[in-house]
Amino acid sequence: MAAPRLLVIDDDAIICKIIAKIGEDAGFAVDTCLRSRDFQSKIREYTPNVMIIDMVIPHMDGIELLQWLEGEKCHAPVILISGYGDGYLDAGRTIGLARGVNIAATLKKPLDASDLKATLANLLAIEFMEAQAYHHAEGKLLPSYNKLPGEMLTGSSEMDADHLRLFQLIGDYHTAVANGCNLETVHEVLRELDAYAKLHFHREEAYMRDHGYPQAANHAQVHRLLCGKVEKLADAPRENWNSALEKEFMVFLWEWLYSHIMSMDKKYARWVAKRAAGASPP
Ligand SMILES: [Fe+2]
Ligand SMILES: [Fe+2]
Repeated sequence: MAAPRLLVIDDDAIICKIIAKIGEDAGFAVDTCLRSRDFQSKIREYTPNVMIIDMVIPHMDGIELLQWLEGEKCHAPVILISGYGDGYLDAGRTIGLARGVNIAATLKKPLDASDLKATLANLLAIEFMEAQAYHHAEGKLLPSYNKLPGEMLTGSSEMDADHLRLFQLIGDYHTAVANGCNLETVHEVLRELDAYAKLHFHREEAYMRDHGYPQAANHAQVHRLLCGKVEKLADAPRENWNSALEKEFMVFLWEWLYSHIMSMDKKYARWVAKRAAGASPP
């Protein structure tokens, strides 16, 4: 399968180089532009799967580019970046979302490489695991857990218990599909999974806000992207669904949860642990 495409615009060539390296490490093919005119023509020929837009660039700034994107009907997720403070990023997020642009995250410059890599990895999971799952859903045995493996533990027993419950609900979904249960039973399990995921995300986001975690808003945005995907699939008319599609969706959910815990949730857990130990957080 061809690598997903990341298109970057930043008028600083060094930052473009750094982002390209991080994007490639996260599994993307990357193209970069220094000027808005190049970005506009590349959107059409390169058809990116994810974009990174610097809010302050000469000639046409990020806000104008977002307005232009609305007209292009380009729905690839966008990460906004800026070194000019939260005001620019908040304005970009508000205006972009109001215009139907898929603002996935906002990141302050200087960029934290691990934040950017985790955000890209999660976007990759949401956008592409579903497609990848199609290729290996058949015959794949997902692990079932009575307790989480050590590598997935976050140090918060409440978060870990929620994650374990989510894996078990995905397992229940798997069992319902594998046993050929009727559609109503399968959807009942899916609805329970959807409700528990929302409850867990709500709890996790509350911890993050209470601790003053600086990446709380981005983390919540990634949760919302996943919820939107689950809702869309759970509510989709089922006449065209079959067990292959159900398996594909199940593998997508499992891999998304695994990747999200290993990248974003554990990053938050490390931040909490460092703060508790009195060290300055990363
Ligand atoms: Fe999370
Ligand atoms: Fe979580």
